[in-house]
Amino acid sequence: MTFHAPNAVALLDGMQTFIEPAYVRSDPDSCLNYGRDWTRLHRPNPLAVVLPGTVEEAQALIRYANTHRLALVPSGGRTGLSAGAVACQGEIVVSMERMNQILDFDPTDRSVTCEAGVITEVLQNFAREHGLYYPVDFASRGSSQIGGNIATNAGGIKVIRYGLTRDWVTGLKVVTGRGDLLNLNRGLIKNASGYDLRHLFIGSEGTLGIIVEATLKLTRPLREPSVLVLGVPSLDSIMSLYHIFRNKLELSAFEFFSEKALRHVLNKGLHRPFEAQTDYYTLIEFENTDGLHTDMALNLFEHCAEQGWLTDGVISQSEAQAQELWRLREDISESIAGYQPYKNDIALRISRVPAFLSEADALLSREYPDFEVLWYGHIGDGNLHINILKPDDLDSAAFAKKCGSVSEQLFAALQRHGGSISAEHGVGLLKKPYLHYTRDETEISYLRAIKKAFDPNGIMNPGKIFA
Ligand code: MLT
Ligand code: ZN
Repeated sequence: MTFHAPNAVALLDGMQTFIEPAYVRSDPDSCLNYGRDWTRLHRPNPLAVVLPGTVEEAQALIRYANTHRLALVPSGGRTGLSAGAVACQGEIVVSMERMNQILDFDPTDRSVTCEAGVITEVLQNFAREHGLYYPVDFASRGSSQIGGNIATNAGGIKVIRYGLTRDWVTGLKVVTGRGDLLNLNRGLIKNASGYDLRHLFIGSEGTLGIIVEATLKLTRPLREPSVLVLGVPSLDSIMSLYHIFRNKLELSAFEFFSEKALRHVLNKGLHRPFEAQTDYYTLIEFENTDGLHTDMALNLFEHCAEQGWLTDGVISQSEAQAQELWRLREDISESIAGYQPYKNDIALRISRVPAFLSEADALLSREYPDFEVLWYGHIGDGNLHINILKPDDLDSAAFAKKCGSVSEQLFAALQRHGGSISAEHGVGLLKKPYLHYTRDETEISYLRAIKKAFDPNGIMNPGKIFA
């Protein structure tokens, strides 16, 4: 669905009946900025960017788009890594950034209602100011938006303890692709009155409609979290540590990264956690109220060292030091952005991680002898990020082709282990060719039927998720 230029000006002018001209932008800078996410594989080419300021304006826009058969790409903080919010075919980007108000807070319900364009960190800070905690957290917290997080069912670094965005959404207001406003679940904990349409919108990547408001649960803050970083000689040892530590401590994170990945953050000025280098590292966060669990952590450390599962380690002594240690893991993504990494974001049941890891390790060493392959991720919840860095002397197209063909083999292995081609980044344009490794044809036909029910004219983020 691409625009024909002669109509374009008139169609954009027609929007002035429901939105101020200042919020319909078609200048090249706006189109470039709003037409892309953090992937850099597609050339942004939207017709225009529209910034609704109210639910009514968003609804009028969707109705207008239906009348004129315009393609809309809902857009949050554009921190996505699967090209789900990329507009490269003359679509209209619908930026939610003006709808950025926290509308309601209820201490009894421990819940907050906000517009879709609220930045994740703003919500986290709001919760903290009220003695509470919004626990869905990740490195892009400073620019990602709540609506985008919901549209991709964002996960991040605390999933092992707190689950995904889905687990915190108790209500949603959405405008469907038909232009209807739905008020879903209204903050209820229990609601056994039929299909829960809220959950269809969580992870729908803008293909069913636009999320305009959300009600989110909050919880009590973590009590004095301590952070351990351990040097680990092998991927197998990481799993041994996982079993031991999660049985004895209340873990809020269990992350891993390779020495190769660590080197990229060290190049950006961070310091090694300790002198000894190992092939892998784990970062473990646990609740350590009044320091009561420090002894347990040290006992576990000694036991694991005796078994040869770890070689060295450090435990944070202050909140500032905990944050410094977290940066070793959290800054990896940004530190490698310049290498145009080919990103894999895969999920497995934890019990299947060890078998898959050894298969994947053998496959990637065989297929990528000359490429730098970086491993990191949220291994405690079965989510691995495998990033392949583009060598300087290889052009982007040849690199993408090679990585695409290896992906077919990797995803075939993943399918044998019952995994998913996307754990938390979404499908977008990037993972669309591989969806069939995770969802079979029958299931995909149900997804299509759902899409048709909410968006009969196919105006909502066309071309994403489905082939
Ligand atoms: C992360 O865990 O660092 C994020 O998902 C981003 C990435 O995978 O690069
Ligand atoms: Zn991640």
